[in-house]
Amino acid sequence: MRIALLGCGVVGGDVVRLLHTHAEDLTARVGTPLELTGIAVRRLSLARDLPVGSAVFTTDAYGLATRDDVDIVVEVVGGIEPARSWLLAALHAGKSVVTANKALLATHGAELHDAAAANGVDLYYEAAVAGAIPLLRPLRESLAGDRVRRVLGIVNGTTNFILTRMDETGAGFAEALEEATTLGYAEADPSADIDGYDAAAKAAITAQLAFHTRVTLDDVYREGIGNVTAADIASARAMGCTVKALAIAERSPDTPGVSVRVHPAMIPRSHPLAGVREVFNAVFVEAEAAGQLMFYGRGAGGSPTASAVLGDLVAVARNRLSGRRGPGESAYADLPVLPMGRTVTRYHINLDVTDKTGVLASVAAAFARQDVSIQSVRQDGHGDDASLVLITHTATDAALSATVEELRELDVVRAVASVMRVEGGEL
Ligand SMILES: NC(=O)c1ccc[n+]([C@@H]2O[C@H](COP(=O)([O-])OP(=O)(O)OC[C@H]3O[C@@H](n4cnc5c(N)ncnc54)[C@H](OP(=O)(O)O)[C@@H]3O)[C@@H](O)[C@H]2O)c1
Repeated sequence: MRIALLGCGVVGGDVVRLLHTHAEDLTARVGTPLELTGIAVRRLSLARDLPVGSAVFTTDAYGLATRDDVDIVVEVVGGIEPARSWLLAALHAGKSVVTANKALLATHGAELHDAAAANGVDLYYEAAVAGAIPLLRPLRESLAGDRVRRVLGIVNGTTNFILTRMDETGAGFAEALEEATTLGYAEADPSADIDGYDAAAKAAITAQLAFHTRVTLDDVYREGIGNVTAADIASARAMGCTVKALAIAERSPDTPGVSVRVHPAMIPRSHPLAGVREVFNAVFVEAEAAGQLMFYGRGAGGSPTASAVLGDLVAVARNRLSGRRGPGESAYADLPVLPMGRTVTRYHINLDVTDKTGVLASVAAAFARQDVSIQSVRQDGHGDDASLVLITHTATDAALSATVEELRELDVVRAVASVMRVEGGEL
């Protein structure tokens, strides 16, 4: 079985190492050797400490991906173009494809799936979501007989590290980001992680599999963690919660449809996701018959991601050897993806208020006008330091944000200090 590897950086280098180290076992598991036919890179001159000769390297990724003697193309370059064109060409040339490219799948997944189906080949991408953690195959295969209600995930290690440090040391966002950068957990330009783009791509891919519905990056509501303050973390702690950056995909409880979103949220410390620290990832799945499941592990890094790539490679190689394809795209349910305003959630709202009688009544009336019920109220401080912390019951996001707009207009409210969603069950 001849493999073309496109990209040989952090992930690709470890794919080469694993193919070499486990060659004998892989041969036994697949039933034939996995032979690395060529490796496409951008810089031929770069010294790479890898167990392969220089003759396998090329800068012609397109040529390699479509070569007659290649069976499977593994893409670990990243980005939309030229990866999209290479993979479409490879699929149309009858190659099976394994990729770790979340950005590409979340934007052009349908086109790639269609090309794979039309050519009777596989498109596998376990490494694209949550690195080493087996998540996509369980959703696609193990849970194929069940009905998934909800997927709640910590799928970005950088933001989880930052929020963990803020929670455990009391650091502010900037300080925690600096520490993440120093330790190599944040990129020089961390915006894809901090602003939630990386998690949103993973949420789209996960939702598609969980709900048998095409979901793209544009369907995902997204808020980053840049506005989370030390005060928010302290407030969460005071009510037995912690703040996590969550990717959430869920079925609407009342109308046919799914909501897919990425944002920081308070979750109870008793929730299994609350204990997921530093750069670790975890995904919590709720299915009707299976109940609650949790998948935990390393969501990034060369060798964990390469492990997921190799798992796909073995599966795809076995399929090819037996002359069949694995399960393809399943989008038959075709559920509408609901706008954020129709998503049902809860809010934690911190208000700076005047220290007068009647404040509580005015605030409660604003909630009542939007038909949002209050679960709890806590009053702190006096005079200029007076504040109210309210937690709502569930309501649509539209009603909750309209309530916040009303609160901003009230004379008794000096400022809406913070608003954060609350997820993960009763407090
Ligand atoms: N890193 C992780 O922890 C991780 C985790 C999960 C998923 N992923 C995904 O895995 C993919 C690869 O990530 P990575 O971290 O391994 O990236 P990386 O270290 O930047 O490696 C990218 C590789 O692609 C090659 N390349 C770039 N442009 C090319 C071109 N035009 N033609 C041929 N080769 C080209 C580069 O060549 P040179 O070596 O010559 O520069 C390099 O070998 C991405 O889709 C990423 O989202 C990464």
